[in-house]
Amino acid sequence: MRDVEMIEKINMLKKQRNAIILAHNYQRAEIQDIADFTGDSLELSIKAQAVKEDVIVFCGVSFMAETAKILSPSKIVLLPDAEAGCPMADMIDVASLKKLKAAHPEAVAVCYVNSSAEVKAECDVCCTSANAATIIAGIPLDKEIIFVPDANLGAWVEKQSGRKLILYPGFCPTHAKFTPEMVAGKRRDYPDAAIMVHPESPLEVSMLADAVLSTGGMLTFARQSSHKQIIVGTETGHLHRLQKENPDKEFIPLSDSGICPNMKKITLPKLLFSLENMQNEIIVPEAISKKAANAILNMLK
Ligand code: 13P
Ligand code: SF4
Repeated sequence: MRDVEMIEKINMLKKQRNAIILAHNYQRAEIQDIADFTGDSLELSIKAQAVKEDVIVFCGVSFMAETAKILSPSKIVLLPDAEAGCPMADMIDVASLKKLKAAHPEAVAVCYVNSSAEVKAECDVCCTSANAATIIAGIPLDKEIIFVPDANLGAWVEKQSGRKLILYPGFCPTHAKFTPEMVAGKRRDYPDAAIMVHPESPLEVSMLADAVLSTGGMLTFARQSSHKQIIVGTETGHLHRLQKENPDKEFIPLSDSGICPNMKKITLPKLLFSLENMQNEIIVPEAISKKAANAILNMLK
């Protein structure tokens, strides 16, 4: 089937099923273009909470679809590819988190939203890359803080907040590919460009950038910047929206290797199949969902 036919069918089914399509900023261009709403993890969580439709088709990775289900338990949440996971989220399990908590029984446990519902259920509060520093700033100074699973985001937040965090050695394999040499190379090749990177990048890369931002923050930066060329240190799918919203500016990937294979698993045929057959419904057991909701709602309030 041609793309135009699939798009037509998806739009028709969306009406029939009373569905909304949410997509993360890293999705393929054609998925972003057909979505009703595209955003970063925080924006998508806020949107999921307010959805009126009966069905949410979540074009992203599993922890995002799970978060949507936890925030909107009465809705049917579909993930067009059940295998679209996040390797960083998979780096920590409940047993490892419990071990860390046992070693620091008084600590506040903060989890990056890139974690499973089970891990969230064991934490006090969640954060995303857009609000991590604010969440940490809200924790009393005399409290120890456990921060899981992203050690790179944690290290960046430590720099910003001046607080020492108890970190876990998780990382994003996509952002871990970025190096200080890549930043130096782009500075040399594009001397007038601004360089923005995602805080999942290694700390030594973040330290060299002009701005360290969530994908949503990057869109604001790009809109407001006087720079005509901007280097983008994150998953390359984000360049689609940056370019679309800022046609007068040039966006250059920090590296072409910045690809998240899981984000790319969602395709038009899979989106169509999912909506047509109501496939890959996300189910979160109620007990886990209730506890995980606390951590997510503590972040949103
Ligand atoms: P944000 O869009 O929240 O910045 O997150 C990036 C990411 O890696 C999601 O998996
Ligand atoms: Fe996970 Fe990294 Fe992919 Fe985001 S980009 S979903 S953190 S692997």
